[in-house]
Amino acid sequence: MKETILVTGGAGFIGSHTAVELLDSGYSVVIVDNFSNSKPEVLDKIRQITGKDFKFYEEDLLNLDGISKIFDENKIDAVIHFAGLKAVGESVEKPVEYYHNNITGSLMLIKAMKKHGCKKIVFSSSATVYGVNNPVPFVEDMPTSATNPYGYTKVMIEQILRDVYVSDNEWSVSLLRYFNPIGAHKSGLIGEDPNGIPNNLLPYIGKVAVGQLPQLNVFGDDYVTPDGTGVRDYIHVCDLASGHLCALKYVLEHNGVEAVNLGTGKGSSVFDVLHSFEKACGKELPYEIKPRRAGDIATCYANTDKAKRLFGWEAKYFLDEMTADGWNFIKNNF
Ligand code: UD1
Repeated sequence: MKETILVTGGAGFIGSHTAVELLDSGYSVVIVDNFSNSKPEVLDKIRQITGKDFKFYEEDLLNLDGISKIFDENKIDAVIHFAGLKAVGESVEKPVEYYHNNITGSLMLIKAMKKHGCKKIVFSSSATVYGVNNPVPFVEDMPTSATNPYGYTKVMIEQILRDVYVSDNEWSVSLLRYFNPIGAHKSGLIGEDPNGIPNNLLPYIGKVAVGQLPQLNVFGDDYVTPDGTGVRDYIHVCDLASGHLCALKYVLEHNGVEAVNLGTGKGSSVFDVLHSFEKACGKELPYEIKPRRAGDIATCYANTDKAKRLFGWEAKYFLDEMTADGWNFIKNNF
């Protein structure tokens, strides 16, 4: 039997796809989620896709006793930690809630891990830690910074985990810096389904495509990019999920701390994504050019050498497959 993996935030977008990949690969999975930005039905969809069962706890990471109980009741070999609040704009309005939820929640998790001798963790970080001053492509040893409370929580949790390792070299930590996850599982059963009006480009375009929002607002067409709109490194969520499995294998075999980019290394503009999505859904979608969004940078894409070198991992999917899989989920679920 393979190891038992605790997935925090396993009902969420990236967490659910990673849970599928773990179950498909024969790991035992325990999911903990508080459904703050996800739905309980996702759990049944994971069972449906994989034909496998797993334990689930509805619990908040802020509740140390509740989290400790999960470790008491299961022999957890490693943790993949996704749970956290992730809306940039909301984090500016509610900094205390963001710091408390993301930082304190992570500290409680680490405390429970320490108490139970579990010292292997894969953490869901973000390309947001490269801040606004680094040149592209982003390389893992560049200085980190942030422009908003959400971003700072990622920078800080990375630092906390580095310090935990310094205090005890038996720890094994992977800090995965995701670029822009989009797409959905091929089954169309799980995908990105945020509560309320989406902040991110793909779910927003999806809401326009199904007629729930009138148009896409393109935030700026005067960036120094090929078509003037922002360029990002969009990555299929299933590629991300497979990247987590590689990171997990790595932490199970090596001690230390490694930050690793998970991206494709290629940039696509807002118009590239919009037009690719239009091909997928077979219709033109209305849009309007709006002013730049505060805090946005012109171009963001990954240097992917380290993931290749350390994990033997690279992204497989192209933009058109990402938008086609995204639409397949959206048309059935939005
Ligand atoms: C955003 C966050 C980032 C976070 C990531 C999580 C900001 C500034 N950054 O990344 O910290 O890790 O989400 O998923 O919020 N766009 C539009 N119209 C829209 C939405 C987006 O034109 O309605 C454009 C943006 O200006 C950007 C691109 O689409 O150029 C991607 O935006 P988005 O999906 O929000 O991701 P990021 O901003 O890259």
